Amino acid sequence: MDKLQVVGGKRLEGEIVISGAKNAALPILCAGLLTSGDLELSNVPRLHDVKTILKLLAQTGLKVTQDDEKVTLNGSAITTLEAPYELVKTMRASILVLGPLLARFGEAKVSLPGGCAIGSRPVDQHIKGLQALGADITIEGGYIHAKCKKLKGARIRTDMITVTGTENLLMAATLADGETVLENAAREPEVTDLANLLVAMGARIEGIGTDRLVIQGVAELHGARHAVISDRIEAATFLCAVAATGGDILLRNTRTDYFDVALDKLREIGLVMTMGPESIRAQMGGRPKPVSFRTTEYPGFPTDMQAQFMAVDTIASGSSRITETIFENRFMHVQEMNRLGASIQTEGNTAHVKGVDRLVGAPVMATDLRASASLVIAAMAAQGTTIIDRIYHLDRGYDRMEVKLSAVGADIVRIK
Ligand code: EPU
Repeated sequence: MDKLQVVGGKRLEGEIVISGAKNAALPILCAGLLTSGDLELSNVPRLHDVKTILKLLAQTGLKVTQDDEKVTLNGSAITTLEAPYELVKTMRASILVLGPLLARFGEAKVSLPGGCAIGSRPVDQHIKGLQALGADITIEGGYIHAKCKKLKGARIRTDMITVTGTENLLMAATLADGETVLENAAREPEVTDLANLLVAMGARIEGIGTDRLVIQGVAELHGARHAVISDRIEAATFLCAVAATGGDILLRNTRTDYFDVALDKLREIGLVMTMGPESIRAQMGGRPKPVSFRTTEYPGFPTDMQAQFMAVDTIASGSSRITETIFENRFMHVQEMNRLGASIQTEGNTAHVKGVDRLVGAPVMATDLRASASLVIAAMAAQGTTIIDRIYHLDRGYDRMEVKLSAVGADIVRIK
């Protein structure tokens, strides 16, 4: 299993090119199942999760042609309407094939994703929404088996805001008969990117970017070309890194209009940012100031940035309070950060962080994707050497993070 060795205390300076967004690419690739035409996608990130979804899509019969960050999909010869446990258990986003397969072929069999490290993460809202569209769903042998003659438009209000739930139902509704209204829909930029692609494929969707999506079903969708939006979480992760280490970096291929409150919090920390049309220059001198926040749905503070901000808070000039409201178990990085000398105490879903003068390198273990990124940040701010074990989590969602960081001055190497 690969590990990362990080020697802390290096200032960051230089340019980083941000990759396409993982959480936009995954649903967008699944949209390839909705048409027999060619979907030509660019800015697809080179990630382990993308490989997994392409493997799953290929085994349904979807033709996949890949040239680095360009992927072309053709769904004219789908043969299998099933997503097996072996693939779904490694990546929960596999559930995103359920809506498209059912809507286009009238049947889908997808393994129920199990629990996961950050929470129980049920998919009841996906199922409830598809049932409202007329699907007949049974759960047997660990599989969701959905069938329908033709989906019929309906008004669906999910009990909570769910990102992949919204995406699954949105994709299904594009091919349903009549009008579907999705209320309480997720407004994340990745949902909007998927909706824009679907419109390019001939879908009729109103309210894009709001919490009320109105979809008029069409008989079929056609091929399209689309560039995946850049990854706001990857960009914000590098901004946290420079906030923790000090330095001057330029992020390229990033947008500035789709960030959430995370950017305001970075300014509170003391990061000076200059926005270009597709770039952000970030400069940091001195010790970070502490920031407190509560994770919520977009445009609130993203849960996917909670751990990385906590890493910065560990060395801030005061105390902070972090409350996680989206997932029930997303504090596994706390114990690892404390191993580096941080002073964090948890109380239910709140972490109390007392900024310390310095962290000191130690062996730590990555537990999930964003926790891994937070440990890289903490290790870069720490004195001495940190070894981060189980970094396969990092490779699921960051495109060669250690290569990008060493190019701007970090001392970070992968140990095979
Ligand atoms: N929920 C339910 N029932 C459902 C669906 C969701 O109870 O049917 C609950 C979840 O358990 C959770 C909350 O609702 O407590 C929100 O979950 P959501 O469905 O929004 O999460 P997701 O769609 O499974 C996506 C991202 C996550 C990100 C969350 C929240 C993708 C592929 N994944 O997950 O990304 O944390 O939204 O923004 O888009 C990551 O990239 O590290 C990551 C975990």
